[in-house]
Amino acid sequence: GDGPNRSSNRADFVVVANRLPVDLEKLEDGTERWKHSPGGLVTALEPFLRARRGAWVGWPGVADVDVEPFDDDEMQLYPVRLSAQEFAEYYEGFSNATLWPLYHDVVVPPVFDRSWWHAYQRVNRRFAEAAAEVSAEGATVWVQDYQLQLVPAMLRELRPDLRIGFFLHIPFPPVELFMQLPWRTEIVRGLLGADLVGFHRPGGAQNFLWLARRLAGFEPSRGQVGVRNRPGVVQVGDRTVRVGAFPISIASTELDKLARSKDVQQRVKKLRADLGNPRKIMLGVDRLDYTKGIDVRLHAMHELLAEGHIKAEDVTMIQVATPSRERVEHYKQMREDIEGQVGRINGLFGRVGHPAVHYLHTSVNKKDLVALYAAADVMVVTPVRDGMNLVCKEYVACRYDLAGALVLSEFAGAAAELTSAFLVNPHNLDGVKDALLAALEIDEAEGRRRMRALRRQVLTHDVDRWARSFLEALGAPLVE
Ligand code: ADP
Ligand code: F6P
Repeated sequence: GDGPNRSSNRADFVVVANRLPVDLEKLEDGTERWKHSPGGLVTALEPFLRARRGAWVGWPGVADVDVEPFDDDEMQLYPVRLSAQEFAEYYEGFSNATLWPLYHDVVVPPVFDRSWWHAYQRVNRRFAEAAAEVSAEGATVWVQDYQLQLVPAMLRELRPDLRIGFFLHIPFPPVELFMQLPWRTEIVRGLLGADLVGFHRPGGAQNFLWLARRLAGFEPSRGQVGVRNRPGVVQVGDRTVRVGAFPISIASTELDKLARSKDVQQRVKKLRADLGNPRKIMLGVDRLDYTKGIDVRLHAMHELLAEGHIKAEDVTMIQVATPSRERVEHYKQMREDIEGQVGRINGLFGRVGHPAVHYLHTSVNKKDLVALYAAADVMVVTPVRDGMNLVCKEYVACRYDLAGALVLSEFAGAAAELTSAFLVNPHNLDGVKDALLAALEIDEAEGRRRMRALRRQVLTHDVDRWARSFLEALGAPLVE
């Protein structure tokens, strides 16, 4: 309702995302608790929003539950309800079996299903209505990611007074692929409801500008979009929509500090000892997603062991994989494939007490994660396509000791910034093997030189700078 209490609670700065930063977890004994939500979006936005006492509109991570709005420290959280069927059709279906593969270079074939599209429209409208309700007069609303691309236009219709930004956390595809989508014009029009549409890379912005002409009939500007500058412009009636590139990042200083802490250093020691103090540790950390190329690194590891380039008693690999989207068909298949690969490698090359690959199908807490990064001699990040990838930036932020080497796919957005990594084409297995060997055997001076350059980039371009550059381009007041 619009009672005095309600309106005095309305927020001047609102984030709208599919997920809240915390997920409701229902335990077997019937009790409930909140846990940190998975994924890069939450990692990036949570510290920023907390510092600004904003509101966050999102789904609490479980279908069919009603949760009242609540405060979490400095943030106001506004849960949006999804039914079990909407979870299946809007989230698992349209978001993660249509848009996700389509936007990631059709790594697996996207499914086009009309009932999923209808659910996507319905749920986007619900998010728009929730955002309209919690936003104060003239507020800034920042809509996030591919699950909510219709929200900007829907929200503008409800609340023309708002300043609306949209940021896409995943790649925006080449136009040839986007054109496959039966509802392509609706998506482009949905996004054009924002005042600023942001992507990680200028290429994504450029693709979107082309589509605004081709599908919506507007006359976008023709100049090259820069990084954090020179946004493109689309005149939509009397509104000016800006389209720009804003590469996302992490809270680098905080991670650097945590990595230096005694607590983490003790964990590192224990970790190495638990592993039997191997000469080298390789590490992978991902959501268990087929875009992440976990199979690629396992394949490379397998061949390196089989050909005798490395020995299991010298080199240990740890792969930590957060469960993700577990009922979606291609995720199920991929999990089977990866677990089969791990089993084969360990069966062939492991010894009692010394597997070649330690595979953990779980998410780990922050301190243990930082300890893993700090212990890893080689960080292996090999997605076949990734909007940005924060894991590689987190690794760099944790290496204040200038040790460690990063092997990074050219197909991650981060590759454009982290040019001193060992960049690889994940489709070229020999290239990946060569890079892994080079990273394992790098001499200390060369390693330090590379890590210093990587750290300069990651520490000066943190998530705060990302958010500020976006909000500045949006013309939003920067609340301290
Ligand atoms: P995505 O958004 O596709 O999941 P990113 O690399 O951008 O990929 O972000 C992933 C985030 O999730 C990072 O902050 C990373 O630390 C975290 N993460 C990934 N895997 C794990 C894991 N197994 N345990 C804990 N955190 C994880
Ligand atoms: O940016 C990638 C992303 O899909 C986010 O939108 C999402 O919150 C995160 O990864 C985790 O995925 P999910 O919310 O589907 O578990």
